[in-house]
Amino acid sequence: MSLPKAELHLHIEGTLEPELAFELAARNGVALPYADTDALREAYRFEDLQSFLNLYYELMAVLRTEQDFADLADAYLARAAAQGVRHVEMFFDPQAHLARGVGMGTVVDGLWRALEKSEERHGVSTQLIMCFLRDESAESAMETLEAAGPYLDRIVGIGLDSAEVGHPPVKFREVYEAAAALGLRRVAHAGEEGPPAYITEALDVLGVERIDHGLRCMEDEELVARLVRDRVPLTLCPLSNVRLRTVDTLAEHPLPAMLDAGLLCTVNSDDPAYFGGYAGDNFDAVRATLGLSEDRLRELARNSFVASFLEHDEERRTR
Ligand code: ADE
Ligand code: ZN
Repeated sequence: MSLPKAELHLHIEGTLEPELAFELAARNGVALPYADTDALREAYRFEDLQSFLNLYYELMAVLRTEQDFADLADAYLARAAAQGVRHVEMFFDPQAHLARGVGMGTVVDGLWRALEKSEERHGVSTQLIMCFLRDESAESAMETLEAAGPYLDRIVGIGLDSAEVGHPPVKFREVYEAAAALGLRRVAHAGEEGPPAYITEALDVLGVERIDHGLRCMEDEELVARLVRDRVPLTLCPLSNVRLRTVDTLAEHPLPAMLDAGLLCTVNSDDPAYFGGYAGDNFDAVRATLGLSEDRLRELARNSFVASFLEHDEERRTR
């Protein structure tokens, strides 16, 4: 039986399964350079983050209308619910859509069609986190925040994703300050492929409350001590790390060592259509391969609610 859990690291565009990609391509008259779903699945062999991102952005071409975004989100919510997810804090990448001429309203209103029915349909509560693409300019991020102005009542916070190395958190200082002034929560990807210093910078300069991935903190003892002391949640994505070759094999994933160190770890799916599994599949994989005890698995599930932006009394926010 799957444990009730919250999913805190989930890119909605990364839930586009090949079958839905072809359905939307047909609906919108978009030609995909793959013969069929099998040929597309064959392309899911990644060398690193960038090789994945190339396909991730390419396939977004099929997402054109509000209904497309609604169908995408509803399909994810149904799958997540079946794997025990009770709450999701969903990332979306507006710049990738704005650049294709798809407006902020189309994206947010479309996602909202599915999100507003999610509790009733799937028993899953939802929040939206708008991510900035860190390989785009800081000015573009600021313009995106401005474009989101009319929709901020539906957006709980901001995040930072896409190609990490060479795009340090400090690049986005101003837009994070502006978002904080608007009352938005702040998270950022850091320490996925980038160095531990990016994690420190995300905390110190961007004021983030959670670190997405954060895997490479293990290279810096002082940073680990700080993350433990301040109960900073890390949203880990084990199957993603294997597929993007951040770790060589799942058996070598540092999750057990991270838990032993006292880090507030959560387990999430990142881009489940591309990485071979949804939240429950990630839990099953770490249970089977890393031999985590039932207590550890329950701790991970509990951490996911503690680390969420749901209102709750808890001991974490000492910062
Ligand atoms: N965008 C979608 N998935 C991502 C990941 N794992 N890292 C950075 N950016 C992403
Ligand atoms: Zn991610």
